[in-house]
Amino acid sequence: MESARIEEVISDFLTLRRAGANLTALCPFHHEKTPSFSVSPIRNTFKCFGCGKGGNAAKFLMEHEGYSFPEALRWLAKKYNIEIQETKPTPEQLAAHQEEESLFIVNDFTLKFFQSKLPGAGLNYLKNRGFAEATIQKFGLGFAPDSWDALTKAATQAGFKLEQLQKLSLTTSSGKDFFRNRVIFPIHNLNGKPIAFAGRILSSANGGPLPKYLNSPESTIYHKSQTLYGIHFAKRAIRHQDECILVEGYTDLIALHQAGIENVVASAGTALTTEQLLLIRRFTPNLHILYDGDLAGISAALRGLDLALELDLNVKVTPLPHPDDPDSFLRRLGIAAFTEYLATHAKDFITFKASILLADTDNDPVKKATAVHSIVDSIARVADPIKRSFFIKECASFTGLSEAILTAETNKAVLALPLPKATFLGVRDKPGVNSPLEPVPTGREVGGVESHLVFFLLEHGAEIAHASENITVAEHILAHIEDVLEHFEDPRCQRICRESIELVLAKKPVNAGHFIAHEDLDLSSFVSSLMHKEDAPIAPNLEQASFNTKTDGGPSCTEDINKTILRLRLKTISQLCEQNLQRIKDTPPDDEQALAMLLKVHEKLNTARRELAESLGLVRF
Ligand code: CTP
Ligand code: MN
Repeated sequence: MESARIEEVISDFLTLRRAGANLTALCPFHHEKTPSFSVSPIRNTFKCFGCGKGGNAAKFLMEHEGYSFPEALRWLAKKYNIEIQETKPTPEQLAAHQEEESLFIVNDFTLKFFQSKLPGAGLNYLKNRGFAEATIQKFGLGFAPDSWDALTKAATQAGFKLEQLQKLSLTTSSGKDFFRNRVIFPIHNLNGKPIAFAGRILSSANGGPLPKYLNSPESTIYHKSQTLYGIHFAKRAIRHQDECILVEGYTDLIALHQAGIENVVASAGTALTTEQLLLIRRFTPNLHILYDGDLAGISAALRGLDLALELDLNVKVTPLPHPDDPDSFLRRLGIAAFTEYLATHAKDFITFKASILLADTDNDPVKKATAVHSIVDSIARVADPIKRSFFIKECASFTGLSEAILTAETNKAVLALPLPKATFLGVRDKPGVNSPLEPVPTGREVGGVESHLVFFLLEHGAEIAHASENITVAEHILAHIEDVLEHFEDPRCQRICRESIELVLAKKPVNAGHFIAHEDLDLSSFVSSLMHKEDAPIAPNLEQASFNTKTDGGPSCTEDINKTILRLRLKTISQLCEQNLQRIKDTPPDDEQALAMLLKVHEKLNTARRELAESLGLVRF
């Protein structure tokens, strides 16, 4: 990082102008007309005063090129001729790496082979569809000849092993070419290496005996769920426009590119995966889904929607008039009208979902309710509470329901989301599986909030807390701490609470005497010193308590008890917050999926923490 000069790195991508000690440029991360992007050679950092992005050279590469941290370091090392000693690869890793590299080479050969066979039927087909020479070249389109083994023969003659061709499924197990008599669309990874192919039959007719498209099966270098067609060609434009358009088909994407809309990726006809959405989110949080307006297209869009919301993407949807797809629609309208259509017909996800779901309810209240529940369920997935409340407003105006009801329903749905339990408190459920161990217990001093609560439990446990409901103080306390009991720091307090639960269940009174007479001497001496401590937690209030007991249906220290419960919960949540933050720090920056999960947990914990602090009057808003 010391060798990496920020101005040298950035000038590989942007035109920098001198401005005093610094350099400036138009910010690549947001739209602007006057430069607010500043590079400081002295501090070796960049900063945009418009959008706030900033950092060192590695950060720039991560932001600008969508690299992970390790990828950025490799890029810098290459530029500055620094050899990186990566963790010494094991012979197996080395072999795997070499294997991957050799598969890329096979694919490179294959791509060129298909390109060389394009003139003739393949080229005619593509030209008829309106694709220009430059477009065909850019996307590496080609043609697989109508032959049983043209590629297999050419590749083996060029020295490639049959085994490798088979690993990529370019050659079938019986030695035949996988792609025959099809127009070929190479599929590239983020860095532009060919990892797979798709082949389309020449006839325009659908429904013949052959599938319209044939795709390479998965291989060690091609994982369908992690791949988005066109991402390599689109990444710069996506970042620049701060929006990613998602279409279904290969030809949709290529047609849009050719018309100058380059911030497009294609899902290639399958349901969107979390990995694919995270890939998009490396470049922009704004997703614009452009789908065929038929039932299949709409349900595909709906499926992608919730997942995208959960990953905190801002989603717009533009359904196209059936039976058009983006390619045919663009050809029919021309680029100007097409762009205009997108601008005027894009719906935010609520409007989209509501318009689809509420449309065919025929005013049937039961159907309507189902639709509303589904919409509310989507809103619940939006992490940002402010965004959520705007969507609730919108939903209220669509459905005529009150915001209060929708808010309550949304909150219920938030709680019902599957996330919390496992990750929330999950540390001890699966010790050793990727998770740090619980911290060693600390803070055992008798004055801690845990012993504070135990004091109340043993001093007032047998008294009635809520006269009307006939609930004892012990029941009240234990019911409110049961779920954090496993996170107690002081094992003695934990044990007392656990045994108290058993006492309650056995309908026996909870009091100090029981524990002072306990067979475990450690516990007995702890309790007796706790109950007799001079500065016992609430000594002054206790006097009062014995006077006023039951005048208001419960001990007058009820408020103190409730505060102590809240404090204990706050302490537990704070601990969990810290543990989670540590886990975030310990997660490699390129493990985006784990990070997304942890960040979500972080937000939930933080919200819970803030709410608790608020009710304790520790913070005010
Ligand atoms: N698809 C596929 N296999 C099929 C049909 C479709 O993998 N048998 C995928 C392809 O990625 C295709 C996308 O689903 O691009 C959308 O399918 P469709 O709309 O039927 O095709 P188009 O992309 O419109 O293709 P074309 O315009 O060439 O007919
Ligand atoms: Mn099409």
